[in-house]
Amino acid sequence: MTSKLRRLTLCAAMATLFAAPLAMTQSIAHADEPLKIGFLVKMPEQAWFINEQKAATALGQKQGFSVVNIGTPDGEKVLAAIDNLGAQGAKGFVICAPDVRLGPAIEARAKRYSMKFVTVDDQLVDSSGKPLGDVPHLGMSAFKIGNQVGQAISDEMKRRGWNPDEVGAIRISDYELPTAKLRTDGATQTLLASGFKKDNIFDAPQKTTDDEGGFNAASPVFAKHPNIKKWVIFALNEETVIGGVRASEQLHIPSADVIGVGINGAGEAFAELQRKEPTGFYGTIAVSSTNHGKQSTENLVDWIKTGKQPPADTQTTGKLMTRDNWKQVRDELGI
Ligand code: GLA
Repeated sequence: MTSKLRRLTLCAAMATLFAAPLAMTQSIAHADEPLKIGFLVKMPEQAWFINEQKAATALGQKQGFSVVNIGTPDGEKVLAAIDNLGAQGAKGFVICAPDVRLGPAIEARAKRYSMKFVTVDDQLVDSSGKPLGDVPHLGMSAFKIGNQVGQAISDEMKRRGWNPDEVGAIRISDYELPTAKLRTDGATQTLLASGFKKDNIFDAPQKTTDDEGGFNAASPVFAKHPNIKKWVIFALNEETVIGGVRASEQLHIPSADVIGVGINGAGEAFAELQRKEPTGFYGTIAVSSTNHGKQSTENLVDWIKTGKQPPADTQTTGKLMTRDNWKQVRDELGI
């Protein structure tokens, strides 16, 4: 062994010697602290996710554990957040990841700190695109909620006396996110079953699942079909649909000729449903973001405390919220 190599080996051995007691002191130091968990969301500015994190924090205050809320809009931020939680002695986290294909990377990083985790809203997948079966998940019953969107649109078309042959649909989509595809597939199925013309449904792929993403996706599609005078808009969430509605306004399509129906029932839809100016945003299928935040957190904390693994896949339901009933639905769902 050269002297350089010997020195290196010695250094490594000493590092291990010092690091081990340090790690032990760390875990002992964390031992009598109250339980700490993380709540990581892909879009911390979106009302849906704000509500979820608020509900998680409120549950923690009630039950005596603390919640570290972190916004993780990309993969690097997710991994850094898990490292950060690990260093703070957190025992687990709830996550809605910015990209569901981060599944294996998130699993590996959580394992490094022996942290348990559950997913909310967007279910993680493995490298072949299959859901990670061993990670408990809570999310919307996506296809059925999509069906409700399609039903609301076709009911409103009938009420307005629209001839389906003259109506175009903008399907703002993100097919890399399975829950998004299921939601828009559900809406499509119901629209077709109620007589909508297949050829009149136009795809508008979105880059981001927010207003801006919806606006940018919808604008060129409207512009390409100036002959179509009446439009319906649907997507994975209300933010995206509102973006699409704004795009229709930009092109001076009268709001009476637009029916947009979203999904979520969080802050943005309330604002839009109370707008004094006319809007093509007709309604949204409201789901309780409060319940998503609370239930997923409860599942994780019970798992940490009792060792009992939460259900593999919990699916939640929704209710149509319009100008007429938004207050009542909001109260019912505790949003
Ligand atoms: C996805 C969407 C969010 C919200 C949740 C609800 O993550 O991006 O806007 O709809 O699903 O499950």
